[in-house]
Amino acid sequence: MIKKITKCLFPVAGYGTRFLPATKAIPKEMLPILTKPLLQYGVEEAIEAGIDTMAIVTGRGKRAVEDHFDKSYELEHQIVNTSKESLMYGIRNIVENYTFTYTRQVEMKGLGHAILTGQSLIGDEPFGVILADDLCYNKDKAVLAQMVALYEKYPDKCIVAIEGIPKEFTNKYGIISGVEIDKNLYLVNDMIEKPEPKDAPSNLAIIGRYIFIPEIFDVIKKTKPGKGDEVQITDALLTLAKKEKVLAYKFDGVRFDCGNVDGFVKATNYFYERGE
Ligand code: UTP
Repeated sequence: MIKKITKCLFPVAGYGTRFLPATKAIPKEMLPILTKPLLQYGVEEAIEAGIDTMAIVTGRGKRAVEDHFDKSYELEHQIVNTSKESLMYGIRNIVENYTFTYTRQVEMKGLGHAILTGQSLIGDEPFGVILADDLCYNKDKAVLAQMVALYEKYPDKCIVAIEGIPKEFTNKYGIISGVEIDKNLYLVNDMIEKPEPKDAPSNLAIIGRYIFIPEIFDVIKKTKPGKGDEVQITDALLTLAKKEKVLAYKFDGVRFDCGNVDGFVKATNYFYERGE
């Protein structure tokens, strides 16, 4: 029987240096698009994908994350029966109905290392990963929900979400190459972390949504630090891609890279214009 995906990992331990000084005391993932923190958008996407447990890898100075996904009795008391109360419905529903678990990454040794740090929260199960600074939106079916549906068809594979990008930006992403086995679906045969455009095998960039089979943890443990002396998840995935265990999926929807100011402003305008 296929193991259902019930947990999503959120690595939020990075320094967010591109957003200094805003990220000096506040995690990047707590910056709001309109009135909602990026991480709450991510959690709502996970919920839409049928996930009930949010496993969060935090770090020093990230306590705002835990406070956000908790009750605030004083605040609740202040706004009860006022016009402001409805602003709290969304987060209240999340706090009351879903489970949050936490662990700390003590040294920020990269995304691969952050995911490995989350192993104690995940156990021996397939799981989703959302990088909340990549804000994805699709009206009909959330991006992670699309990927969970695919996983149910291919339960022995990892799945990475990809997007076609202008070739000059390949050095900002993990880039894949593969064979198209279905519409918008590739069996990955190579992947490189942040290649220069001349070395990039394609313009298909990995964005911040993943489904992992539990084997990934052992593979990360054996993966040496790569680019930037960080343990790169792309390098770990390449090991599995060589065994034909990685699919790349061109998702339906839009994505904003809210890890940089330009993408953040675009996301703000997009959601403002939609009136959400
Ligand atoms: P980024 O490289 O985009 O985030 O990592 P960053 O390092 O925080 O940002 P800049 O480049 O300094 O501005 C992608 C995701 O992985 C997490 C980050 O929090 C982000 O969600 N991450 C990265 C960790 O949790 N731990 C790490 O050691 C590195």
